[in-house]
Amino acid sequence: MESGSNVLNMVRCKRGLPGASAWVRVAKPRMGKRMPKSHREGQESSRKPRERVRVLITGGRIQRRIQALAQEIRKDFPGEPLHLVSVLKGGVFFLTDLARNISGEVSFDFIAVSSYGEKTHSSGQVRLTRDLDSSIEGKTVIVVEDILDTGMTLQYLLRLFQQRKPKHLRVAVLLDKPERRIAAVHADYIGFSIPNEFVVGYGLDYAERYRNLPYVGVLLIGPRLKKKPAED
Ligand code: IMP
Ligand code: MG
Repeated sequence: MESGSNVLNMVRCKRGLPGASAWVRVAKPRMGKRMPKSHREGQESSRKPRERVRVLITGGRIQRRIQALAQEIRKDFPGEPLHLVSVLKGGVFFLTDLARNISGEVSFDFIAVSSYGEKTHSSGQVRLTRDLDSSIEGKTVIVVEDILDTGMTLQYLLRLFQQRKPKHLRVAVLLDKPERRIAAVHADYIGFSIPNEFVVGYGLDYAERYRNLPYVGVLLIGPRLKKKPAED
């Protein structure tokens, strides 16, 4: 997922720190998928902003919630083969944990999209960059996404999949950011509703980093890391 508005919504500053090294909690750019290029480039420059991640949802909570979602899904489709379709790359961790927790027959496939092209406005420009390997016609399909944000990606995918005549089409998202919604997309299974903050971990990235964190956390960006005073 690339590109984003050049304006960051910096929603909160920690004030009163000596030396004014204020940390900002970073919300998503208003219309885009990622933080602005200028920010990403800043990481490589000499004035590299320091990053920190504050845990929002622990790995344990994520696993427990996924077990419950898996049971709910199986209860809705007892005895039916389920075809999980995940959106690369962010949805992969969620898909594998969900698949492991659903009893009975489960298959899966992957799709990849890039959002908004070169533009940053929210005209719903989502482009398919990798299609599914197999047909979904007549299958019970669960689209598995890391996060439902503006809804543009899922709106595009649901329209595409609906044309392919699945038997059932459902959506499972680990995270939901309802405040950011632009497209009227409904998720059938939601792990956690979260506030409008930029999160990383458990598949979610910032410039391809942090995906491997076992938890979900809010990304905080500050000018300098304050050195911890020595213990003794
Ligand atoms: P949507 O089309 O705006 O709903 O975008 C969904 C996609 O944007 C997700 O699949 C993520 O790849 C990305 N995204 C949205 N919010 C975040 C975030 O807070 N952190 C990292 N990626 C995000
Ligand atoms: Mg994604």
